[in-house]
Amino acid sequence: MSRALPEPWRVKVVEKIQLLPREERERLLVEGGFNLFKIPSEAVFIDLFTDSGTSAMSDWQWAGMMQGDEAYAGARNFFHLQDTIRDVFGFPAFLPVHQGRVAENLLFSTVLTRPGMVIPNNCHFDTTRANIEVNGGVALDLVIPEGRDSQASHPFKGNMDLLRLRRLLVEERGNVPLCMLTLTNNSGGGQPVSLANVKAVSELCREFDVPFYIDACRFAENAWFIKQREKGQGHKSVAEIVREIFSFADGCTMSAKKDGLANIGGFLASRNEGLLETLKQRLIVIEGFPTYGGLAGRDLEAVSRGLREVLDENYLRFRIGQVESFGAMLTQAGIPIMQPTGGHAVYIDAKQLLPHIPPLELPAQALSVALYREGGIRGVEIGSVMFGSEHPETGEPIPAPMELIRLAVPRRVFTNSHLEYVAGVLEDIRDQRHTLRGLRMTYAPKVLRHFTASFEELAPERVAVAV
Ligand code: F0G
Repeated sequence: MSRALPEPWRVKVVEKIQLLPREERERLLVEGGFNLFKIPSEAVFIDLFTDSGTSAMSDWQWAGMMQGDEAYAGARNFFHLQDTIRDVFGFPAFLPVHQGRVAENLLFSTVLTRPGMVIPNNCHFDTTRANIEVNGGVALDLVIPEGRDSQASHPFKGNMDLLRLRRLLVEERGNVPLCMLTLTNNSGGGQPVSLANVKAVSELCREFDVPFYIDACRFAENAWFIKQREKGQGHKSVAEIVREIFSFADGCTMSAKKDGLANIGGFLASRNEGLLETLKQRLIVIEGFPTYGGLAGRDLEAVSRGLREVLDENYLRFRIGQVESFGAMLTQAGIPIMQPTGGHAVYIDAKQLLPHIPPLELPAQALSVALYREGGIRGVEIGSVMFGSEHPETGEPIPAPMELIRLAVPRRVFTNSHLEYVAGVLEDIRDQRHTLRGLRMTYAPKVLRHFTASFEELAPERVAVAV
């Protein structure tokens, strides 16, 4: 009999979690303006808000933490990380930062030299988009059409649409200072990009003399998908595939809070020494000296070890398999999810589950409220709250193309029985889905509004009419 292998680790330390009484959860929802960012972590039972910074570190990483060199300049851990980045990615030089968005900020505040310059990507993550827009740029998503259809089946739904990229590079010649590709495509369902697509994007960029940078947050998960799904790649090790991916890039931004298996950290790597020198001066002003970049020596060590550890194929097999079986549990419970499951998360299609709530009444936010109310579970809305916009002239709200809720699975943290509980709660929500109400935003800042927005639930009478 064939059976899936269990977790390739054993538990050494545990952390208590608890389900608060329902009235407490209700009170916290109201107090937090129905924004899950405002719920204290200790009031959450199963936190699937993010896979970022939430990994359980290994004994090897913790042992490395004890060897942190906290010197201001030239800490030994910087050199360890330098060796790791050379070995794993093949980049000769890098700047450490405390998390990914600082790398984005450094890069875009420098390459966007005049308003209206365009940065294409398969899909920009929200911080990437924000860092482009606050620096006067236009962030353009050019993922293939299948990547926007939650039910389309395609092994690499994160791929860049090469025809649209070519058209853009022709039409905007001289106005595209850099092209990005996000591995895996977080905002588009955690879907992978094929090696062939990475190569093709790189070649197009070279043809138009545009630097090509990878948003590398989930590089190892992406490489695992390539090994599993891409013709002619199965015989290579994940480490080899990673080296090949990055051999096509001029640089990368990285949040080590994901596939760095660390709780904090990141870096910006580049083959362009001149650019790195400019960024280094900015880094000193906003983050710290270039051998620590806003991190303690011990954090640099945790990242250095995490980046090597994440290439372990037994780990990746379990990791991607766990997310996949979580998706299968939800499908079995009648919950529409984005297909196929991505690397780090399952994305529920709230538009399909809650057709009685129109997009402008925020169905994905309504579902995330229901998950906390019913089961103390926290997921994150990736729909019109995060990506909705306003018509520039009329101010009319424009909904996002998809209404998803992301249940991200932290690395090495939850067992399958935690995920079975989540599937059970979702099945209960499905059974009473007609009682769910839409929401109205009562406060929304201009940039990254989902972090601090407040909402109120629409009156039940209205819902009765809508149903
Ligand atoms: N790029 C991608 C694809 C990301 O998913 C994130 C973070 C970042 C950049 C920024 O990195 O948080 O270290 O500054 N994603 C987290 C998430 C927040 O929940 O998906 P950061």
